[in-house]
Amino acid sequence: MKKIRLGIIGCGQITRASHAPALAALPKQIEVAALYDIVPARAEAIAKDSGFGAVICRSFKEFLASGIDAAIIATPNKLHYRQTIDCLNAGKHVLVEKPMATNLRQADAMCELARRKRLHLQVNQSFRYFPLYNFIAKTVADGKIGKPLHIRCLRAGVSAPNVGWSPGADWFVSRNANGGILMDIAVHMADLLYWYFGDVESISAQNSIRRPNGEVIDNSASLFRFANGATGVLELSWTFPVGGNSLEIWGEKGSITVPASMANCEIRLKGKSEPKIVPASECKFTNSHEWFVKSIHGATGNPVPGEAGRNALALLLAIVKSSERGGRPVKPETV
Ligand SMILES: NC(=O)c1ccc[n+]([C@@H]2O[C@H](COP(=O)([O-])OP(=O)(O)OC[C@H]3O[C@@H](n4cnc5c(N)ncnc54)[C@H](O)[C@@H]3O)[C@@H](O)[C@H]2O)c1
Repeated sequence: MKKIRLGIIGCGQITRASHAPALAALPKQIEVAALYDIVPARAEAIAKDSGFGAVICRSFKEFLASGIDAAIIATPNKLHYRQTIDCLNAGKHVLVEKPMATNLRQADAMCELARRKRLHLQVNQSFRYFPLYNFIAKTVADGKIGKPLHIRCLRAGVSAPNVGWSPGADWFVSRNANGGILMDIAVHMADLLYWYFGDVESISAQNSIRRPNGEVIDNSASLFRFANGATGVLELSWTFPVGGNSLEIWGEKGSITVPASMANCEIRLKGKSEPKIVPASECKFTNSHEWFVKSIHGATGNPVPGEAGRNALALLLAIVKSSERGGRPVKPETV
């Protein structure tokens, strides 16, 4: 297989924590040929620390002209749409960070352009690639816990990502930059509920801003009603006094729970006294970067195409709309 020449735009925390190490682990499949960040020192640091012999581009135009086959877009949310469109128009395959866009019109235009250009557009909804979460998806889909009844998901942090995750990245809490916990976390977790339980009939939500002088939603509680009759609850916070997360899935024959450590899942079946513990380390799934390479070569399908990223966005936008309407149920515009 021909090596793919790849470029990364945005050399912040997600590139440092995920994209760079994942790409460095694929030296036979990928050459990281170009890096671009509006702060050039960040691109230089990634190249140095990861051993990439990449050109450090001084502008987006230079990045597009650098001879790359594919681009990873890891910039703040508001930039994803325009940069994806420009990369696709320049003939590049794209792996774009979540949320893929900030409204559905943009997301639809990105999907349409990728189709028209016959280019690969993949969204980095990273939970979709977690081995443990894929094992759970299969367990639910195979009917092991019976007909879905209820799902609970809590993700609670003590601060917004501009404090712990990427210090100083204030766009995460800027209304103008489309920050906030819904764009950041609901885009993963609402998608997880949808992935496991299917079409969502309605969402009733109560969002709030609890950070002093906060501009963006930092807490959210929502109730999902699924087309199959099941219910779900999604609880998110950036302001709880201690952090935590949990996932519980209930079906007519049993339940699956994931502890805060996400180190395993526990399956309990009706009539059986002993639970089955499945360690995350025993679950296998291909990571997003390997999928990206294989899909570009046509060796496999696209695990999270633009349309899936678009639906994740539709779910969080329904959470926004419902809360703005005082918690009235809203049907998400998934397709
Ligand atoms: N998939 C996941 O699990 C996951 C996790 C964290 C972040 N993300 C997403 O990744 C994206 C980046 O997040 P982050 O945590 O790395 O943020 P960050 O603020 O740490 O990094 C963003 C980088 O983009 C650069 N940048 C800003 N404007 C630019 C422009 N016009 N052109 C080029 N570079 C520009 C910044 O200088 C910065 O280095 C966000 O969309 C975020 O939602 C995804």
